[in-house]
Amino acid sequence: MEAISLVVVGHLKKNYQPKQCILNDVNLRIEDAEFVAITGKSGSGKTTLLNIIGGLDSDYEGQVEVAGKVLSTLSDDELSAYRNSHVGFVFQSFHLMPHLSCLENVLLPSAFNQGKAVETAFTQQALALLAMVGVAEKAHEFPNCLSGGQQQRVAIARALLMQPKLLLCDEPTGSLDDESAGDIIQLFAKLNAEQGMTIVVVTHDADVALKATRTIHLRQCGVMEEGQCL
Ligand SMILES: Nc1ncnc2c1ncn2[C@@H]1O[C@H](COP(=O)(O)OP(=O)(O)OP(=O)(O)O)[C@@H](O)[C@H]1O
Ligand SMILES: [Mg+2]
Repeated sequence: MEAISLVVVGHLKKNYQPKQCILNDVNLRIEDAEFVAITGKSGSGKTTLLNIIGGLDSDYEGQVEVAGKVLSTLSDDELSAYRNSHVGFVFQSFHLMPHLSCLENVLLPSAFNQGKAVETAFTQQALALLAMVGVAEKAHEFPNCLSGGQQQRVAIARALLMQPKLLLCDEPTGSLDDESAGDIIQLFAKLNAEQGMTIVVVTHDADVALKATRTIHLRQCGVMEEGQCL
């Protein structure tokens, strides 16, 4: 039996306004354990595409299937569960909560899982993830005490807490210096190689795209080309 791709996007169309052309007939497959870079000019629809795959935006035409789930057929509760357990998001500006410690930030996705034993297990998992991304010693500090690269590591640990099948990253190195950006990309490459994590990174950075195993270039109006960098 042919393996089903982790992500299947078919005839995807998205316009914010009539006569606009943001995504027009986008067709895309991403296999389990791939490391894919999505490049394209500003305004070409990269964030829009990522938000649709991640279940953050349901207003589109066409079919989006992730891990066998057709997203448009999910109820609101099912879509929330999908976002919480199947995908991890990493953003350019980290989106950490300033009033929570790094450990508490990592634990946020587990907030709906109640019970002492469950909380203890998640806390252990969160501490292990902070150690894996290299910021174990920052667990009880607040995000504003950390460098940008360290904050992004915390955000990656948070995205991994629920063991998602798919890590969606929207310009995750866009606000980092070259060295921190390189470290974060190494971390993605390691997660992909050692854990088989499927990673999709939207990026303007040709160095990031080079580390990926496949590059998809999104042109205006959603026309796609494989294997090209900006
Ligand atoms: N909420 C919105 N309402 C109306 N138009 C929008 C909205 N969000 C995005 N757009 C438009 O959709 C197009 C694609 O936006 P998107 O953010 O997906 O681009 P992008 O490729 O991620 O760009 P960038 O590289 O600058 O982040 C742009 O022309 C943008 O102006
Ligand atoms: Mg964008």
